[in-house]
Amino acid sequence: MSWVKENCLSFFQLFCIKVLKTGRIPQHLALIMDGNRRFARKVSMACKDGHSRGFDKLSEVLKWCLDLGIPEVTVYAFSIENFKRSQEEVDGLMELASDKFKRLLDEIDQINEWGVRVNVAGRLSILPIDLQALISKAMLATRQNNKLQLNIAYGYTGRDEISRAASHIIDGVKNEELTAEEIDEELISQSLDLGEPELLVRTSGEVRLSDFMLWQVDRTVLYFSNVLWPEFTIWNLLAGIIHFQRHAPPALQDKANTPAQQEFLDKYETRKWQKLEEIVACS
Ligand code: FPP
Ligand code: MG
Repeated sequence: MSWVKENCLSFFQLFCIKVLKTGRIPQHLALIMDGNRRFARKVSMACKDGHSRGFDKLSEVLKWCLDLGIPEVTVYAFSIENFKRSQEEVDGLMELASDKFKRLLDEIDQINEWGVRVNVAGRLSILPIDLQALISKAMLATRQNNKLQLNIAYGYTGRDEISRAASHIIDGVKNEELTAEEIDEELISQSLDLGEPELLVRTSGEVRLSDFMLWQVDRTVLYFSNVLWPEFTIWNLLAGIIHFQRHAPPALQDKANTPAQQEFLDKYETRKWQKLEEIVACS
C-alpha cells in the first residue's frame, strides 16, 4: 500500500465532506492509532499484519485529510515505551517502517505531486541506523512540499521531547545565543519537535494520552473513538470533526519572537537539516 490511497471515497462521502467544510476544519489533527493488535487477534491474523493494516488505514486517512483540507497531521507510530514490547514485535515494526520509507522514496514523484512533507519527530538516534538513513532521506526529499505536513512520532514520547528541548535551550544559554530572560512558553513551544494540534483523536476506546504531545494539548479538543484503528472509517473521522466544531476554542494569534529567539530557532532548524544530511552521507 502506498502512502496516500486514491479514490477511496464515494460520491455521498465526498458530499458530506463538502458540507462539513462549510464549518471550521482543524488545521492540525493528531492521531493515536491504537488497537492494531486487538484487531489482529479479532480477525485471527499475525500481530505484524495488524500493524501493516494500521499503516494501510493511515494511507486512507491521509487522503481523507487532503480532501478535508487539513494541512497538518501528526501520528503516534512508535513510542519509546514500545521498545519494551517483545523483540519480535519491535523488529516487525522497524521492518514495516523501513519498507514504507523505502516505498516513499521509490514513489517520490507521486508524493511530491500530492504535496506531502514528511517530518519524523522523536529521538532519531535510538532507531536502527539504516532506518535513520531512510527517514533522513525521506525528510530531505519532501522538504519543499506544502499541501500536507505528515509528522510521524517515532521513537517519541512527549516527556522526552520536552527534556530534549530543555537541554537544547540550556545549551543556547551556555553558548550565549540566548539570555535566561528570553526563555518563555513560546520559545519552549517552538523548540519542540511538534506544534499544537487542534483536534486529537485516539481510537480503540482507551482514554489516555500515553505521553503523546503533552505540552501541546493545552487547548486541543480531544475525541476518543471506540473503534480499533484498522477499522476506523471516514464516518468516525467526520464524527471527530463535528465534535471539534462543537467544542473548539477560538484560534490564538502567534506571538512574535525577539530577534535573539528567532536567530536561536533558525540556527536550531539549520542544525537539524545538517544532521540529516550527515546521516545520509554516512549511510
Ligand atoms: C498501537 O496499537 C499501534 C502501534 C504501536 C503502531 C502503529 C504503527 C502503525 C499504524 C504503522 C505506522 C508506520 C509508519 C511507517 C508510519 P497496539 O499495538 O497498541 O494495539 P493494541 O492496543 O490492540 O494492543
Ligand atoms: Mg495499544
